[in-house]
Amino acid sequence: MAGNGIVRHPQDMVLLLKAAGEVTRLRLLALLAQGELSVKDFTEILGQSQPRISRHLKLLADAGLVTRHAEGAWAYYRLYREPASDGLVDWLTGNVDPQATELLRDREKLAALRQAHRDRAADYFATIAQSWDKLRNLHVADEAVEAAIIDAIGSELVGQFLDLGTGTGRMLELLAGHYENGIGLDSSREMLAVARAKLDEGEVAHAQVRLGDITDLGDYRGQADLVMLHQVLHYFDDPGVVLGHAAACLRADGRMLIVDFAPHDHEFLRTEQAHRRLGLSDQQVEMWARASGLNAVCRQKFPSAKEGGLTVCLWVLEPAELRNVKGV
Ligand SMILES: C[S@@+](CC[C@H](N)C(=O)[O-])C[C@H]1O[C@@H](n2cnc3c(N)ncnc32)[C@H](O)[C@@H]1O
Repeated sequence: MAGNGIVRHPQDMVLLLKAAGEVTRLRLLALLAQGELSVKDFTEILGQSQPRISRHLKLLADAGLVTRHAEGAWAYYRLYREPASDGLVDWLTGNVDPQATELLRDREKLAALRQAHRDRAADYFATIAQSWDKLRNLHVADEAVEAAIIDAIGSELVGQFLDLGTGTGRMLELLAGHYENGIGLDSSREMLAVARAKLDEGEVAHAQVRLGDITDLGDYRGQADLVMLHQVLHYFDDPGVVLGHAAACLRADGRMLIVDFAPHDHEFLRTEQAHRRLGLSDQQVEMWARASGLNAVCRQKFPSAKEGGLTVCLWVLEPAELRNVKGV
């Protein structure tokens, strides 16, 4: 904490210490050290009322320890990564006994909650696997997005392509002429069954699909020249964490493409189609990318032709250092 060049007025320092100096708020900070969480998540984990949790979160936000991001009817919180507060939170969460009963219980409840969300998404994809290719087209015309993806990849042949959350394998099929070797990972056996049939039918022999969890990518570290996250991140509570796992799969000069929705307020997508996040903003993607040593640029946005429809964005992520070397 000391020596980072940040100086605070004593009153602000007291505000910061008071905000952190309470058991429930310490528990909230310890949970946030694991990733972004919504107020709803906190009420379920801590078993406290929403107004109470919101009051605690407001105190933490006023002190600059956390930031709030409104998303439809929900609000998400994350630790504010500013040197003075960051150091304080790291010190607090790093020096508190992780085996303390409340903290242990909170972590267990968080893990159970995340698992319940994953199960719900898995059930959803098991049900819609056969119709996903038609469903995908409902939100936005695929052709324009797919043409932009091909354009973003460029003419050079990609060595190892890794499609995370490959679903029915559309990206492996679409980009078959652009990579030497393709791997599609997905946690849904039902989606993968459709993907396998499709790749066999299209005779895409240089691609394979594998059952796997994209939050556990140790086997793929540093291997990919191109990683794709196509309509996947909004199914996760904390897309930034998934982006971090994906980034670790890239070779030093590898690139990542993300296709996902821009922020929207179609709350029903959470209940009816297992979405966890109502789109991603450029700022969020840039922030998550930066945390993984990447620069993110929104290459193109595709507004829906229908009124009130969803906008799709294509982001290109490249290693921050390499871009500087190239002077881009
Ligand atoms: C909306 S589909 C997108 C599929 C494909 N990328 C596309 O655009 O057609 C999202 C996919 O992510 C997969 N998925 C969700 N959570 C996952 C996880 N933890 N690990 C691997 N795949 C996951 C789902 O099974 C589903 O097939």
